[in-house]
Parts: sequence; C-alpha cells; structure tokens
Amino acid sequence: MLHVFGNRLPSVGRDNGVIVSDEVFASRIVPVVVLHDAKDAEPLGRALLAGNLPVAEVTFRTAAAADSIRAMSQLDGLIVGAGTVLTPEQVDEAVSAGATFIVSPGLRVDVVHAAQDAGIAVLPGAVTPSEIMAAQALGLDTVKFFPANVYGGASAIKALSAPFGGMRFVPTGGVSTTNLADYLSLGCVPAVGGSWMVPVDAIREGAFDKVTELCATAVAAAAGVGK
Ligand code: 3PG
Repeated sequence: MLHVFGNRLPSVGRDNGVIVSDEVFASRIVPVVVLHDAKDAEPLGRALLAGNLPVAEVTFRTAAAADSIRAMSQLDGLIVGAGTVLTPEQVDEAVSAGATFIVSPGLRVDVVHAAQDAGIAVLPGAVTPSEIMAAQALGLDTVKFFPANVYGGASAIKALSAPFGGMRFVPTGGVSTTNLADYLSLGCVPAVGGSWMVPVDAIREGAFDKVTELCATAVAAAAGVGK
C-alpha cells in the first residue's frame, strides 16, 4: 500500500507521486515509537490497533528499528513508517523492511529523493522559511515541524502558514493530550506526532494495556478538536 503525502506541487525531474493519501493522518496523531527489542514490536502494534490508533512511526534510533518495522508491517490494518531517518541508506533499509512512509527530523535532499524514488511518502523536518521553500521545491506540501515546542509552537506554525498557504505542518516534540488542540485547531495541521502514548517504560515492562489506554485517550482528545 502506498502512502504519499500531498504532491500537488511539481518536483524537479522526478515522478514522485502515485496517489495522494492522508491515511497516515486519519487519526490526527502519529505515534513516534522507540523499540529497543524487536520482540516488542508485534504486541505494541496490537496495542496501537486496540487503542484505535492504527499507525506507527518506528524510529531508527535503535538497532531494532528495521526488524520492528518488518514485524509490525505484518499486522493487518496497521500503517507502519520509519522515523528519524537520516540517510538514503536508511530509507532503503526501511522500505525493504516494509515501511510505507518516511519521516526525517530535517530536510536532506538525498533522503527525500530516495523515498520519492521508492514511491513512498516522505515527511522531512522543516521549521524555517528557507527549509519550507526547499521542501516545496522538492514537490512536498507537508513537513514535520520539529521540535515544535522549541521552534515556537502553534503560534510559529500559524505565522508560517501566512506566506506558505499550501503548506501543511505535522508538529512533533513536546506535544501531549493537554496541548494537542492548540495545534490541531489550525487548518494547516493535519496531525500531530509524539511519543507520549507509547512510553518506553511501558513497552519495556510489557504494559501494553497501558499503551492501548493512552492511545484511546489521545485519539478521543484529537477527535474532539474542530478546525
Ligand atoms: C520525534 O522524533 O518526533 C520526537 O522525538 C517526539 O517528541 P516527543 O517525545 O516530545 O513526543
């Protein structure tokens, strides 16, 4: 299944869009997952599904990332992507493992091109006007805004959306159930990202019911936010 974020803008010499799908953003929350042991991947995936949050951004911050993506992408209904992707090699590794979208903390052209060449969605980080313009030039209309709490939060996104009318932002970093409405109430924010519903400690302790509960609470909070 392909998940390609908006490709309404032309890219430079590349066919980077097959379909436009916002399935990744359907729940309006993208859980940022850190797995230290791939054996936790399957129960975690099931916990996300049970919590009505059928998406996971599995970060390449641990050696277990690729195996975790491989295990989670076997689960029906779960959309699995790779996060903290820093190099084109990691894009290839993630794609081979079954990732259907790529998230990067910053904007690196060869990373974006590698994802586009693989025909999958890519969400690079961009927080300044110049970075946003670089993302536009690569044919993208959605970027990660990270770390959102450091780069000015919702008011910064609101200010940036004035010159960049078509651009969408997915804030991540310091987002929680208590402040997600500040972001999700903005028309240019399709979803927020965060790790609060997938605590590393809960995963380590095998407390997957806790993860399900946190996901359900987060999804309910997001669903209650109008635009
Ligand atoms: C990310 O990579 O998107 C962030 O590390 C998630 O930030 P959080 O842990 O503050 O939610």
